[in-house]
Amino acid sequence: VIERRPAYGVGIAWRHCIHAEVMRCGALVDFVEIPGDDYVDPELRARFDPHERKLAEVAARHPAVGHGTGLSLGTAAAPDGAYLTRLADFVARHPIAEYSEHLAFIRGATREVDAFMALPFTDLGVAVAVENLKRTRAALGIPLLVENVAYYFALPGATMSEAEFLSRVATEADCGILLDVANLHVNAVNHRYDALEFLAALPAERVLHAHFCGASRGPDDFLYDTHFEPTWPPIWRLLEAALERTALRALILERDREFVPFRGPMDEIWFARERFAKHRGAKARPAAVKREPTVVPPSAVHSASLLALQDALCRMLLDAEFGAAVARSGSAALEGIGLDREAREQLAAIEPSRRERIGARLRESLVAQGAKS
Ligand SMILES: [Fe+2]
Ligand SMILES: [Fe+2]
Repeated sequence: VIERRPAYGVGIAWRHCIHAEVMRCGALVDFVEIPGDDYVDPELRARFDPHERKLAEVAARHPAVGHGTGLSLGTAAAPDGAYLTRLADFVARHPIAEYSEHLAFIRGATREVDAFMALPFTDLGVAVAVENLKRTRAALGIPLLVENVAYYFALPGATMSEAEFLSRVATEADCGILLDVANLHVNAVNHRYDALEFLAALPAERVLHAHFCGASRGPDDFLYDTHFEPTWPPIWRLLEAALERTALRALILERDREFVPFRGPMDEIWFARERFAKHRGAKARPAAVKREPTVVPPSAVHSASLLALQDALCRMLLDAEFGAAVARSGSAALEGIGLDREAREQLAAIEPSRRERIGARLRESLVAQGAKS
């Protein structure tokens, strides 16, 4: 029987490139967060850890939780069956106690972008995410958490706030919240809302994990979730506020690069450990969890109209000409591609300059990737 120990204390988002360092600084790290997609994607697995030796080593030493990027919980269609099967196999093979994913979509029916996009903050958006979380929970058989993403434009037509949206999804799907305090800061600045009010609106007992790291200010004066800068002071303050106000029991340093010297990330972990000890000290650790996959009967919440909108939005970001045509002639440019009127108006109402900034960043990174491969 695999022992699945939930996360408690201060951990690190483990990456292959820092495996030796994490093993060496072991006593300072209470648990690790494993990037699930590095193992679910056969190509990435073959490239970084073909026999899963590194993962087995680190998971033997520390409690392990998983974190995914490829599920696209917010796509208005059932999660990809093959992906879900590979993910369930991965969770069955290793002592992963909990798994988190983003409350966002990265793809429509035919296109995918390398960015998290916010769902519409509507009843339909809630229903889609809840349904996909339930299916994922049933397939994996371990507790799930949803993460708030940094997003750069919201879809028009919201009928609730982002905090209410996240709260409803977590409550209705009966899962935890992974509060990324860097994303919260980035969104609060970019979209001009109060981060502490956002925090106060969440169901405190469900906020169990937190990501922390820095952010970056773009030339456009927007903040971006770039995952390589040291944690900024206002982000530390949000982490501390979350420790005060919620049931938070697992803090995770989420950096993707700039690990040299490793002293930098370790100082951040040390700083977080002090904060954690101050607020949690002698609290009991959560009990181990069993893995119990089940089957969920299919339901009919998935919406062809939202799926078509998501696909068209991906195209607007990836295809500069198409995006420019929408900016120029509004919803008329979206006729003839199977969108209903409401979806056309919603897409045309997204602030063009913001949408174009994100599209340009995505296209640049595609070019850079192409140049590398
Ligand atoms: Fe994340
Ligand atoms: Fe995060």
